Amino acid sequence: MASVICILLVSVITATVPSAADFVTMKCQSSTGHSGQSSTLGCVVKALQEGLDIKIMKVFWKKDGNILLKLDGDNRTGDERFQLADINWRNSYDVSLLVKDTKISDAGDYSCTVVTNRGILKGTAGFDVKAKYSEPDLTFKPDKDIKDDDSVEITCVASGGYPRGAVHWFDNLNSNWTRSARTTVTQMEDKSFRLQSTFITKNPSHGPYTCVVYNSEWKKEGNNTFSFDNHNTSRSTDGGQTKNIAAGVVVIGSLIVGLLVTLLLCRRRSRRPEQHEDYDVEAEAEAEELHPCSPPSHSSPPTYEEALKEDSRSH
Ligand SMILES: *[C@@H]1O[C@H](CO)[C@@H](O)[C@H](O)[C@H]1NC(C)=O
Ligand SMILES: *[C@@H]1O[C@H](CO)[C@@H](O)[C@H](O)[C@H]1NC(C)=O
Ligand SMILES: *[C@@H]1O[C@H](CO)[C@@H](O)[C@H](O)[C@H]1NC(C)=O
Repeated sequence: MASVICILLVSVITATVPSAADFVTMKCQSSTGHSGQSSTLGCVVKALQEGLDIKIMKVFWKKDGNILLKLDGDNRTGDERFQLADINWRNSYDVSLLVKDTKISDAGDYSCTVVTNRGILKGTAGFDVKAKYSEPDLTFKPDKDIKDDDSVEITCVASGGYPRGAVHWFDNLNSNWTRSARTTVTQMEDKSFRLQSTFITKNPSHGPYTCVVYNSEWKKEGNNTFSFDNHNTSRSTDGGQTKNIAAGVVVIGSLIVGLLVTLLLCRRRSRRPEQHEDYDVEAEAEAEELHPCSPPSHSSPPTYEEALKEDSRSH
C-alpha cells in the first residue's frame, strides 16, 4: 500500500515539474568584446515544439558565482553596466546580456539561468576582451646635442593593451633589430599590459629606427620612428631639402670665403713687383677662381667634397 502511494506521489511530482529539456532549450554563444565599447553575450531561449506557450519568469546572469544581473518579474538588481540587450526579451526570448563600457576584467566565463513556466534552463558563454595599445611613445638618451659616435638609448612604450603584445625594432632598410632591444612587459591593475622596449644604437647612421607594436594576433597596431634629424644632432640625416639647402649654403659660403682669401693673397703678392697692373691682377684673380694660388686653410668651412663625404657617412 505504502509503495503504491509512493509511486503515485512520484508520478504526480514528475507531472507538475516537467523536464525543461523536453519542451524548451537555451542556446548561448561565446563572444569577444572591445574595451570601452558595448558588448553582447548571446543567449536565446527556444521552444522545441511549435505553438508552445513559454513564459520567462526570472533571468540571472552570473560570472564566477557573482550575480551581475537578476530580473525577477519587474524587479531588477545588479550592476548598472549590465542589462538585457533586447528590451522585448519577454516576447523574443532573447536574454542576451549587454555589457556597457566593457572592461578587460569583464573577460571570463558567464552563466545564464532562466526560470520559465516549462522549467529551468542554464547556459554558459565565454567572453574575451581585447584592448588596443596606445600609440607608442618614444624617449631617448641623450635627449639633445647627439654627436657622432654617441650611443643613443631609445625607449618605446605602449600601454593599455590586452592581451599581451610585443614590440619590434626596424631600421630604415627594414632590418630587424629586435634582438638588440630589451623589452619588459608589466600587467597593470586594470589587467592591461604595458610594453616597454629599450634599444641602444651606436650606429645612428642606420636610422631612423622604428618601433612597431604588435597585438596578440601579431597584427601591427602602432609605430613610432626615432629620427636623429629632430634632435639637434651634428649630422643632417633627413635626406630632404633642408639638407640640400644647408649643403648649398656651406658650399656657397666656402666659395665666397675662398674667393676673398684668394683675391687678397693674390692681389698682395702681385702688387709687390708691379703695382700698376690693377686690371690684370683682377683678371688673374678671376681666372684663378678654380685654381686658387693659396690652398684654403683647414679651419675653413668644409668643401663640397668634404660635405658630400660627411653626408654619405651619415647615411
Ligand atoms: C624580429 O626579430 C625577433 C627576435 O629575433 C623575432 O622574434 C621576430 O619575429 C622578428 N620580427 C619580424 C617581423 O621578422
Ligand atoms: C606606421 O603606422 C602608419 C599608420 O599609423 C602606417 O601607415 C605605416 O605603414 C606604419 N609603418 C610601419 C613600419 O609599420
Ligand atoms: C635645438 O637646440 C636649440 C638651442 O640649443 C633649441 O632652441 C631647439 O629647440 C632645439 N631643437 C630641437 C629640435 O631640439
